[in-house]
Amino acid sequence: MCTKQTCVITGGSRGIGRGIAIELGNRGANVVVNYRSSDGAAQEVVETVETAGGSAIALQADVADYDAVESMCEEINSAFGSVDVLVNNAGITLDRKFSNMSRSEWEAVIDVNLTGVFNCTHCLFDDLRAANHGRLINISSVVGQQGNYGQANYATTKSGLFGFTRTLALEMAESGSTANCIAPGFVETDMLETVPERVRDHILERIPLDRFATVDDVTGIVRFLASPESSYMTGQVLAVNGGMEW
Ligand SMILES: NC(=O)c1ccc[n+]([C@@H]2O[C@H](COP(=O)([O-])OP(=O)(O)OC[C@H]3O[C@@H](n4cnc5c(N)ncnc54)[C@H](OP(=O)(O)O)[C@@H]3O)[C@@H](O)[C@H]2O)c1
Repeated sequence: MCTKQTCVITGGSRGIGRGIAIELGNRGANVVVNYRSSDGAAQEVVETVETAGGSAIALQADVADYDAVESMCEEINSAFGSVDVLVNNAGITLDRKFSNMSRSEWEAVIDVNLTGVFNCTHCLFDDLRAANHGRLINISSVVGQQGNYGQANYATTKSGLFGFTRTLALEMAESGSTANCIAPGFVETDMLETVPERVRDHILERIPLDRFATVDDVTGIVRFLASPESSYMTGQVLAVNGGMEW
């Protein structure tokens, strides 16, 4: 399905990105595991892909740093040639109710979750448009649809991806490439671990399927979006949230 594709997954060292990298690697893609600081975890993902017979490299770059992203993309092109699939997955939270939120907490989340998406997409835009079945896949969140107490910075970035995705879909359409967005609900990763237990219990009450998502609940959707089977789907937001209403 993804044979010979070269897929870049930002934040591929842990959590959802790790799952996506392994899934696409298992499907025969060349996989680029981007990360910011978890060298060991990123190498472990590379080894997992290689053990399954795939090709992978781990590349450190802070997605918020345009120059670092540009250098990373040069390394990717040297290693694997042109890129077919970009999964903008890297993301952070810095939660604080708005009245107490500092400018630096606002900017840090914007820089990674929104400007980071600009940086990676901008550096790989020509590759994606030139690819046969070029795919831009942005990982948003249910929080971008619903808002969430204490997450004005995070919610803003995740809502921003909707307009970004829709616009890029229009601008990529001429080349036959697509741009789509996934809005997961609450997924069992390190990020969810930072949420206090009483808040997690409250969230769970709002999920009709009565459980948090697993990483695998998201990776299958990415696999589909990366495949030729999704060729006629673009500019969409796919909610994967256990039935949470918004
Ligand atoms: N977990 C959820 O409930 C949930 C729900 C909806 C949407 N999402 C979204 O899904 C994505 C992944 O979330 P997750 O739960 O898997 O998070 P996670 O477990 O905290 O992992 C975050 C990943 O992003 C990387 N990263 C963070 N900042 C980066 C930067 N500046 N440059 C490059 N890489 C960076 C991390 O690299 P290091 O390992 O090097 O730190 C790590 O690989 C995020 O965009 C998040 O907003 C998560």
